[in-house]
Amino acid sequence: MSSSILRCIKCHREFPENEILYACPSCSNLLEVVLPISELDSDELRESFDSRPLGVWRYKELLPNFKGKSPVSLDEGGTPLHRCVNLGKELGLKNLYIKFDGMNPTGSFKDRGMTVGITKARDLKVKAVVCASTGNTSASLAAYAGIAGIRCIVMIPSGKIALGKLSQAMMHGATVFEVQGNFDDALRLVMSSSKELGLYVLNSVNPFRPEGQKTAAYEIVDQLGEAPDSLVIPVGNGGNNAAYWKGFSEFKELGLAKKIPRIYGIQAEGAAPVAEAFRKGADRIKPVEKPETIATAIRIGNPANWLKTINAIRGSGGDCITVSDAEIISSQKRLAKIEGLFVEPAAAASFAGLIKLIGKGDIDKDEKIVCVATGHGLKDPDNAIKVSDKPVKIEASIKSLRANLRG
Ligand code: F0G
Repeated sequence: MSSSILRCIKCHREFPENEILYACPSCSNLLEVVLPISELDSDELRESFDSRPLGVWRYKELLPNFKGKSPVSLDEGGTPLHRCVNLGKELGLKNLYIKFDGMNPTGSFKDRGMTVGITKARDLKVKAVVCASTGNTSASLAAYAGIAGIRCIVMIPSGKIALGKLSQAMMHGATVFEVQGNFDDALRLVMSSSKELGLYVLNSVNPFRPEGQKTAAYEIVDQLGEAPDSLVIPVGNGGNNAAYWKGFSEFKELGLAKKIPRIYGIQAEGAAPVAEAFRKGADRIKPVEKPETIATAIRIGNPANWLKTINAIRGSGGDCITVSDAEIISSQKRLAKIEGLFVEPAAAASFAGLIKLIGKGDIDKDEKIVCVATGHGLKDPDNAIKVSDKPVKIEASIKSLRANLRG
C-alpha cells in the first residue's frame, strides 16, 4: 500500500509525509495528511476496528504509520457520548448527545492530537517541542512530551489562562513562558522562532495533530451506529471542527458512514472572526485585534486554521454563530446542574450555540444532534467559583444548620 502524503489545502501541492512543514512553501496555506483511501478495504477495516476498544488507536490503519513501534499514548479517546435526557426534555429534543471529550487523560480533546503529534516528534528524533496555548494544548503537550522524554516549551498569554491548565503544564515539567500579549502574539512568536531555535511545533498547524483529533468523529459514528445530523462545536484556533470534518468525510468515503453532519461552529462574541466572515458571506476572515471572552480557551482573534474551518463548515452545509459570555455561563451551569456534566466555559459554548440554533429554526427538533464538550470544568476552578453561589458559613450545631436551611 502506498503511504500518506502531505497536501496543501489551497494549491494542492504535495509533499512527502516525513518533511517537517507547517505551511505550503508556494502559497503559505496549511497542509493536511491525505490517506490512500481508495487502496483500503472497508470490510477489513471494520473488522479490525471492532476488535479493539474505543479510543484513538482503535483506528490505527487511518493514522500515520509509525513503522510498527507503539505510539506514545495515555489511552486517550474512548470518551462518553452522553445522552442528555433532562436537557433534551427541556428543549424538546429527542436525540441530544454530548461528546464529553473533557474525559481525556489531561482533561481536554487535545490529547487525541498529542498522542499522534508526539509519536511523530519521537520518530523525527526532535530535541524539543513547542506550542503557543490558551492552556489545554500546553497541558497536553507537557504530559506527552514528558512520557517521550522530549524537552517541552510552552508559551501562554500572560495572566489569561485558567489555573488548572497552568498547574498541569508546570507539574508535567514544561518550561513555561508567559508572553506579554495574547494567544495570537504567542503563536506568532512560536512560528517565527521555531526554525532558528530547532523547535518542533505542535500547535494545530502541525498536520499530524488533526489526524488524532479526527478520531472523535469516527468514535461518534461507532457509538451512535451512524453519523448525527448536526454537530455543534466551539471554534477557537479552528483546528478541531476541521478535524471532525476530515474524520466524518473519510468514514463516508470508506463507506463506514452514510452521511456527514452539518457542522455548526460556535464562537464567543468578543472573539468571533470566523462567525463574522460567515455573517458577511466572506471568503476570508478579518482578525479581531483584542479578543475578549470569559471562555479563555477560545480567546483567539486570528485563528491559524481559518481556511480549514471555513472549508469544513461551508462544505458540511453548516454555519458559524456567536454566543455571549452570559449565555456560555448559563449553559455551563445548566449542563452541570441537570446533566451532571462539568465542562469548562469554552466547552459550554457549543451547548449555548445549540439553544440559539434551535431558536432560529436552523436545527430541527427531530434531528440527531451531538454537541462537543471539549474540556473539563475542573480546568477553570476560578470561573466556576466566581459564577456559583458561595458556601454558607455555619456553626457546628443543628440549630445553626436548621436556621440556614430555611429559604
Ligand atoms: N475548547 C477548548 C476547551 C479548547 O481548549 C480549545 C482550544 C477549543 C475549544 C477550540 O479548539 O482551537 O481547535 O478551534 N484551545 C487551544 C489551546 C487554542 O491552546 O489549548 P480549536
